[in-house]
Amino acid sequence: MKKRCLITGVAGFIGSHLAEALTAEGHEVLGLDSFADYYAREVKESNLSGLQGEAAFDLVEGDLARLDLGGLLRGVDWVFHQAAQAGVRASWGDFFRTYTDNNILGTQRLLEAVRQVGSAGNGKVARIVYASSSSIYGEAEEARTPEDATPRPISPYGVSKLAAEQLGYLYWKQFGLPVVSLRYFTVYGPRQRPDMAFNRFIDALLSGGEVQIYGDGEQTRDFTYVGDAVAANLAAAERGRDGTVYNIGGGERASVNRVVEILEEVSGRRAKRSYHDRQAGDVRHTWADVSRAERELGFAPRVDLRDGIKRQYEWQRRGKLDGDQQRTS
Ligand code: NAD
Ligand code: UGA
Repeated sequence: MKKRCLITGVAGFIGSHLAEALTAEGHEVLGLDSFADYYAREVKESNLSGLQGEAAFDLVEGDLARLDLGGLLRGVDWVFHQAAQAGVRASWGDFFRTYTDNNILGTQRLLEAVRQVGSAGNGKVARIVYASSSSIYGEAEEARTPEDATPRPISPYGVSKLAAEQLGYLYWKQFGLPVVSLRYFTVYGPRQRPDMAFNRFIDALLSGGEVQIYGDGEQTRDFTYVGDAVAANLAAAERGRDGTVYNIGGGERASVNRVVEILEEVSGRRAKRSYHDRQAGDVRHTWADVSRAERELGFAPRVDLRDGIKRQYEWQRRGKLDGDQQRTS
């Protein structure tokens, strides 16, 4: 059945893919984004280009931490809360205020607004899916991490994502808001944020610059293709259990060094590697135990690492060609 959806952070990497998937399934999407200047507005506008002219899509520019949200929630069935100040390594120092404003205060205001308009049982909003993060775990064992592992974030970003996740839990516990949290593990694919590893590595390969590796490159991530994270959101809206968190991982853990090797194979180019200090807040390993998401959401990652890397490489290669052409014409 057709749903009316609110996506916060719709102009971002994951939010824009989610909006495309929901409209393709016949749902109506109202997207909210503040076009935060963490990366260029043009990149976010280009993320939304596939939705231009889409009758089932509307965009509102505004800040969750300030906007009157009541009006936006009118008639909304599903809320997908993707908006946040993302990025692990930038979250130290004075910039932390941006994380508390957007991630903690923004989430609390959204939950309050849903409480005011009413949720399933006494009103309208039937599901709120919150984009949580593997960074809430901190240093995990070198084994798959289940959702009930003790959260001990080692970055201020992770602390802010955990605080917002806990707010979701308590608004469920106290007021019965139908909140489900998805802990994504390092998401990649076309439109990946410019500060993230694959985007930076591919950019360096295409421009002949250095592929800068933090630490020894033997840190590992359970890299997750963006289409799989999007599918998890749809499943969580339809079948998620209120008050529950689910790990969402790609299933194939790889080291940063291995990723660079795959990129060399995929691109046919040689990377000029340079090694730099390990970054504060970076965890050594992540690896998701996704058995709960498999069991309850029917989640199964579909795109393997090599294929996903190829897709992101091709997207960035085409983007660079288009950019070069525009500059010379
Ligand atoms: P992104 O930066 O591309 O998208 C986030 C969007 O939210 C941006 O367009 C930004 O302008 C918007 N935004 C920020 N604060 C806002 C506010 N107060 N009001 C309205 N809009 C606001 O990031 P992304 O990589 O697409 O991440 C999406 C979500 O997933 C975030 O919540 C992030 O913490 C989470 N997450 C991402 C990853 C990943 O690997 N990309 C992994 C785990 C969790
Ligand atoms: C990513 C997202 O950026 C976070 O928003 C998200 O919350 C987190 O995943 C998560 O899973 O919760 P991160 O794992 O740091 O964070 O993702 P990348 O930026 O792609 O970095 C992956 C690894 O590559 C890290 O160890 C990083 O230190 C390394 N890296 C990154 C480099 O070696 N060089 C770079 O230029 C960039």
